[in-house]
Amino acid sequence: MHNANPAPLRARRAAPLTGTAQIPGDKSISQRALILGALANGETRITGLLESGDVHSTAGALRGFGATLTQDGPGSWRVTGLGVGNWKSPSAELDFGNSGTGSRLVMGAMATTPISAIFTGDASLKSRPMARVVAPLMAFGVTYEGQGEKALMPLTLHGAKDAKAIEKVIEVASAQVKSALLLAALNARGTTKLTQTTLTRDHSEKMLAAFGAKISVEPHGAAGETITLEGPAKLTGCTVEVPRDPSSAAFALVAALIVPGSHIQIPAILLNPRRTGLIQTLVEMGGQIKVTNRRVSGGEEIGDLVVRHSQLKGIEVPPERAPSMIDEYPILAVAASFATGRTAMRGLEELRVKESDRLEAVAHGLKLNGVPYTIEHDDLIVDGQGQDGVKGGGTVPTHMDHRIAMSFLTMGMASQTPVMVDDVTMIATSFPEYQDLMRGLGAVLEAP
Ligand code: S3P
Repeated sequence: MHNANPAPLRARRAAPLTGTAQIPGDKSISQRALILGALANGETRITGLLESGDVHSTAGALRGFGATLTQDGPGSWRVTGLGVGNWKSPSAELDFGNSGTGSRLVMGAMATTPISAIFTGDASLKSRPMARVVAPLMAFGVTYEGQGEKALMPLTLHGAKDAKAIEKVIEVASAQVKSALLLAALNARGTTKLTQTTLTRDHSEKMLAAFGAKISVEPHGAAGETITLEGPAKLTGCTVEVPRDPSSAAFALVAALIVPGSHIQIPAILLNPRRTGLIQTLVEMGGQIKVTNRRVSGGEEIGDLVVRHSQLKGIEVPPERAPSMIDEYPILAVAASFATGRTAMRGLEELRVKESDRLEAVAHGLKLNGVPYTIEHDDLIVDGQGQDGVKGGGTVPTHMDHRIAMSFLTMGMASQTPVMVDDVTMIATSFPEYQDLMRGLGAVLEAP
């Protein structure tokens, strides 16, 4: 999978990184703020919204359903929704670009309104399974025409009329699947009960409550929970303050840990416990990460990070931790490359259905840069080369995956010879400021 006009970039060993990294808004929360705003009655005012390709794709699609979305300034948006059940069939197909979250959540949001829409996207999105979302949505009465067994895009979705509530155990550890079902439940009559056996990010649940949905969450078994939602729901527009994205902060954070002499600040980062698996793991590896000034903002826990260069050591990362750091394994693999000893990352099956097959993409990048590893089933075991031991020198195929691009650029900031990535275009889907921000801290990124 390649971009038609790739833009390669090379990172070379940097002097110590210093300064403050102002990370943009959280992608997951930005997507949900727009979608719930478009489903609500009245106006939703959003500040701190991530201005990125994925979020803009979702905004475009929501306009297609008839919602009004206005940008007042960078990160500052107003959304006037139509009310649950009142979306219209879009007149043109909806192009979600690279955005799995946007497209899957919108599928759920229209699923119980009797309208039809065609979902499409770029080559990466067209290769990702939509069956994991549309198959469970069939319980609400949805029908669809997708490509093949995986229900690939282009996919036409027909929402159900007079949908009834469902009770369901969700098989995959995916917040996208859970959120799509929750959004569908909004316009289904009765009490929907959704059970997950592993805990995934809960931004949808929190934000639905803030918009006035009758939603409650109870523990289920040893590690799961059941979410109950009453439909049909009425959502009321509100204000949403989007915290800064820990999954984007991860790149500055790991860069500071592996570039000798570094000392940076990363203020006001989202610290929802279902998103902090990487910080926990890096601290266990010996990373000097201080979290200060913990507070609540926009209904979410946030805090300031102070990060210093550290000699990391390899550890076991248990499979139960995967949902809380699912997007962070590529950058953790980079951190593990500079550690002493082995880091074993267990239970990574969900990595295979991301913007690329991230398990394969990470493994290939490690190989090209002289870092030994093994893959056992869905586990990745990296043999750390120590602080100065990563050779580098590879040109890494990014497979239209923003996180693969940013992860291997990070590797080049501390490896013996520079690391090149074949295309940085996709970074704009989640973190358009990435290059400026990293250069501002002292990173050396240069076009070949
Ligand atoms: C997201 C959930 C995760 C994550 C994605 C964002 C979300 O996907 O990888 O980047 O906003 O719900 P899965 O829920 O499929 O694991």
